[in-house]
Amino acid sequence: MSSGGPDAHPIGIDFGGSGIKAAAVDLAAGDFAGERTRIKTPDPATPEAVAAVFAELLAALAEDGEDGPVGVTVPGVVRHGVVGSAANIDQAWIGTNADDLFTRATGRSVRVLNDADAAGLAEVRFGAARGQTGLVIVTTLGTGIGSALVHDGVLVPNSELGHLEIDGHVAEKRAANSARESEDLSWSTWAQRLTSYYQRVERLFSPDLIVVGGGVSKHAASFLPMVELDTPIIPALLLNKAGIIGAALHGAGES
Ligand code: BGC
Repeated sequence: MSSGGPDAHPIGIDFGGSGIKAAAVDLAAGDFAGERTRIKTPDPATPEAVAAVFAELLAALAEDGEDGPVGVTVPGVVRHGVVGSAANIDQAWIGTNADDLFTRATGRSVRVLNDADAAGLAEVRFGAARGQTGLVIVTTLGTGIGSALVHDGVLVPNSELGHLEIDGHVAEKRAANSARESEDLSWSTWAQRLTSYYQRVERLFSPDLIVVGGGVSKHAASFLPMVELDTPIIPALLLNKAGIIGAALHGAGES
């Protein structure tokens, strides 16, 4: 199994519902070291089909001399490399040892972590929560709601706060960005739902800072000022780079 020389850039792979994106990451700069490549997510996105795409992406990066260790995000619980939940992905992922599968399929050293945990690591190390002490909660608002708990820079993985039950509903079904889109909610109606959601998170965890990520965070000015909370709540900075950068941190063993 090759994993590049001591100075090789780690590679981050972000496995999402529509695309699988990868880039080599410069951990000193906190940014991509080269071009980002993207391949459409296979349908069905079974572990084997996804592993084949990873092999293709990594081979292309290796041609450019990028053959460092690899980190991969998965939108589910990941314990010691084994995927434990699959709320918005193919059910075949549950119970899959993704570290082993991807390592075998790619011939590279691969470590897997939850997608929101990756975004959280990246935002705390290089983004909106850089330098923040105490408890930071990073949430991603997308198809579901992902969450990362980071205390004094240390990640407590798999917090899964999108699955809190609020008023008899799984929170992400009502407050994720996908709910805003499918129910055609106005920004202010969505902000009310987000207020209920974040107030619950605030009561349970008393965080020092909440960071709001996911693609919709680039529209933060349209909804975040209407979210009523005592805790400071700010948009993510790294946007669609956070998953890849966080994955690379994990792949490099810096998590
Ligand atoms: C999953 C989480 C994931 C989040 C964002 C949720 O449905 O349970 O593991 O982080 O979606 O993708």
